[in-house]
Amino acid sequence: MRFRPPVVADGGAIWSLVKRGGGLDVNSPYAYLMACQNWSDTCVVAEDDDGLAGIVVGYRLADRPGTLPDTLFVWQIAIAPEHRGRGLGKALLAWLIRSNEPAWLETTITSSNLASRALFSGFARDGKVKLSITPWLSADSFPDQHEGEDLFRIGPFPSQKE
Ligand SMILES: CC(C)(COP(=O)(O)OP(=O)(O)OC[C@H]1O[C@@H](n2cnc3c(N)ncnc32)[C@H](O)[C@@H]1OP(=O)(O)O)[C@@H](O)C(=O)NCCC(=O)NCCS
Repeated sequence: MRFRPPVVADGGAIWSLVKRGGGLDVNSPYAYLMACQNWSDTCVVAEDDDGLAGIVVGYRLADRPGTLPDTLFVWQIAIAPEHRGRGLGKALLAWLIRSNEPAWLETTITSSNLASRALFSGFARDGKVKLSITPWLSADSFPDQHEGEDLFRIGPFPSQKE
């Protein structure tokens, strides 16, 4: 399995993987192309000879009052169904932390997404880094039938340079 930042040519395959995997809001193809074009350093794809096996789309939060500085926000992570449960999700998160060296990682997860909750909890536990979980968006924040989302905040990560 090879890990690398995405290029624009990956945008369509990332959209397809998210769509095929289920469990995630499928954003427009344009959104994934923008991520590949403009934020590829904070994204990663895993591929083997058959194509994409997993993706993470993330970006750095702008520093602003009330926001912890130096935070990598994971917008979406998806592993192809046939590659799940083998540590690929955790390995992709570890790759992103190594390559970006943020102090904090954040993501949001619904209560029913047990796989994702287990992924981020296990990632924090393995790295011996603190995890806090707080309610974030309630269901009535959404204009459609969407569960509320909890904010998962992991960190601070020790400096990778120490
Ligand atoms: C969530 C997802 C990315 C996990 O990826 P993965 O590669 O299968 O996860 P890993 O193999 O690295 O497992 C990480 C941990 O989660 C646990 N886990 C994985 N799938 C699980 C499941 N379905 N139920 C419960 N725990 C699960 C693993 O046992 C492991 O736990 P451990 O650290 O205690 O050993 C994958 O299931 C997926 O793509 N789901 C659909 C998209 C999605 O929901 N994305 C997240 C949105 S917030």
